[in-house]
Amino acid sequence: MTEPRKIIIDTDPGQDDAAAIMLAFGSRDELNVLGITTVAGNVPLSYTSRNARIICELCERRDVKVFAGADAPLARKLVTAEHVHGKTGLDGPSLPEPTMPLQPGHSVDFIIETLRSEPEGAVTLCTLGPLTNIALAFQKAPDIVARVRELVMMGGGFFEGGNITPAAEFNIYVDPEAADIVFRSGVPIVMMPLDVTHQLLTRKDRVARMAAIGTPPAKAMVEMLEFFERFDIEKYGSDGGPLHDPTVIAYLLQPELFKGRDCNVEIEVTSELTVGMTVVDWWHVTDRKRNAKVMRFVDADGFFALLTERFARI
Ligand code: BDR
Ligand code: CA
Repeated sequence: MTEPRKIIIDTDPGQDDAAAIMLAFGSRDELNVLGITTVAGNVPLSYTSRNARIICELCERRDVKVFAGADAPLARKLVTAEHVHGKTGLDGPSLPEPTMPLQPGHSVDFIIETLRSEPEGAVTLCTLGPLTNIALAFQKAPDIVARVRELVMMGGGFFEGGNITPAAEFNIYVDPEAADIVFRSGVPIVMMPLDVTHQLLTRKDRVARMAAIGTPPAKAMVEMLEFFERFDIEKYGSDGGPLHDPTVIAYLLQPELFKGRDCNVEIEVTSELTVGMTVVDWWHVTDRKRNAKVMRFVDADGFFALLTERFARI
């Protein structure tokens, strides 16, 4: 049997971040979570650091190391999304305050030390929020960029436009300077944009299959999703809300669920109108370097089947 793949999850939980973390926890044969690093995004850092530990405890994974990271974007004021995720970021179920401690030290240092101490090409970075911690780590220790196996991110949007402005997706919008550093770094990137995640609606029949699992983590997840989807159902008039962040983990488990192509992606950092836009050269109309595998299509039923199967294993 092959060794489980080593991953660091960089996150701003968020109900859909919680679903991604739970998908990883339910996949222990394939994935070894070396640590969870938190960042400010959906809600301020104190809440994202709390929420990451709540999820670990809900899944009886107190052994997982959780580090707090950047509390603000590189060059801008923090924009949060309580209007989507609620005041705590994890509104929905009533869950106890966590008792497991945060690890001493900063997320950025944990990322650097882990990439330096693990063999080259062994560690995959999974990013579910603004890219602040990753950009800081790449700036502080440029030697680690070449040691990353792959960076799989939820972020951006192109054919679907944006979800926080007409042009920008939330994770990139919050810290466009950080995204710019990451996309220019040369690290191998797989990008899960809104073009993919908007195909993954939490339809009633899909959520009912999760509810049927009946375990405490599955029950809490269903309550989180019921809270989370209300905003998008109203906004898009859709049957359920789009589930963004678990695409990152699903890609590691079953890449064949997704289809995309290698493209150049650049980040708009100056225009007031389109700041945070991910400009994807999908049609290869320039000769700019192809720096990301951009996903566009997903087998939605296959994705939800994977999610349900793995939630049942937690
Ligand atoms: C992204 O923004 C956050 O609200 C979600 O957790 C997801 O990472 C979607 O735009
Ligand atoms: Ca997120």
